[in-house]
Amino acid sequence: MTDAASLKDKAGRAALEYVSDGMRLGIGTGSTAECFVRALGERVAGGLSIVGVATSERTARLCEELRIPTASLDEMPELDLAIDGADEVDPELRLIKGGGGALLREKIVAAAASRFIVIADATKRVDVLGAFPLPIEVNGFGLTATYLGIRRAAERLGLAGEVRLRQRGGEAFITDNGHLILDASFGRIPNAEALSEALHGVPGVVEHGLFLGLAGAAVIAGDDGVEILGQ
Ligand code: 5RP
Repeated sequence: MTDAASLKDKAGRAALEYVSDGMRLGIGTGSTAECFVRALGERVAGGLSIVGVATSERTARLCEELRIPTASLDEMPELDLAIDGADEVDPELRLIKGGGGALLREKIVAAAASRFIVIADATKRVDVLGAFPLPIEVNGFGLTATYLGIRRAAERLGLAGEVRLRQRGGEAFITDNGHLILDASFGRIPNAEALSEALHGVPGVVEHGLFLGLAGAAVIAGDDGVEILGQ
């Protein structure tokens, strides 16, 4: 296992501390979340009883493979806990998410949970969000108009930079919800709340990867061990 992979694994395993029998659990997406799911699968095989709501088709498939019981969010709309990775975590537990393209379902699931815990290796910690391009999920209709609307909204806040359509294998990346993703390289985002509000005001924007006021704690694995931020 590489150093990065082993830190992700440590964070994923440490998050099991927060899971108890009978929980309704939101289950995240990405390589760190996958470490959590694999560790969770071992516990479930050992008798732990939980029901999960997966934040992506990819996670749903992994849960099925590991025989972790799942339900849809409509079947189980209130969750005890959600656990998910992040692309960036700032000291206020504000996050950038969506590197794996699952941000819409991830945000809906995090918001449906009484508690949302983020798991990450220490490289994801930042003082100010924005080095990681901000994923913005948009409708395919009117893509160029939405792109221009995003640029104008950001410029009004003094933010500029490249906004690129996410590609995979030479084609536009399509989310589980049938939308597109624009990755916005605005650089430092000192005004995340204002940007969040401004992006929500652009028609065509479905959701963005700024997760503000959602995470209650972060389990961060570094070379010196696992640190818990928040509570
Ligand atoms: C997926 C996400 C992921 O949680 C985020 O991209 C972190 O991924 P990884 O754990 O692979 O670094 O938001 O949409």
